[in-house]
Amino acid sequence: MILKVKPTGFLIVILVITMVSLSVIRAVHAESRDNFTLGERIFKSHCSSCHPLGLNVHNSKKPVKGSKTLVTLATFKNYLSNPMGHMPYYPHVIESEDMLKALYQYVKTIK
Ligand code: HEC
Repeated sequence: MILKVKPTGFLIVILVITMVSLSVIRAVHAESRDNFTLGERIFKSHCSSCHPLGLNVHNSKKPVKGSKTLVTLATFKNYLSNPMGHMPYYPHVIESEDMLKALYQYVKTIK
């Protein structure tokens, strides 16, 4: 028996597949965008007064951008857990994995 699919039926299937994939792509995008925004927000509210544009107003030799403390999330966390000089300690950022990861992702993008 030959299964006969009408062209309109075929088009509807294609349309549904397209719509489902688009909504998945959009959801994934929205998630990474939110994360990025959270990191940027944390940086702006906690760090950028001393580190505008990833620089360092107190010690120009110790900018955030390109810092070797950003090599891994662990080295970053370690630095923030034992900050030096005038660098403040932010336990609520370090203790929240979401905040720490979001902040880490953001500081890595500062060029
Ligand atoms: C009150 C000013 C101030 C604030 C706010 C501040 N920092 Fe700093 N930061 C410093 C100073 C000063 C140093 C250099 C410390 C030293 O003498 O080694 C530094 C150093 C760093 C370094 C290491 C640079 C290197 O390679 O040695 C990183 C990374 C860093 N800060 C990230 C951050 C992040 C992320 C935040 C926000 C959560 C932040 N800082 C908030 C003052 C500040």
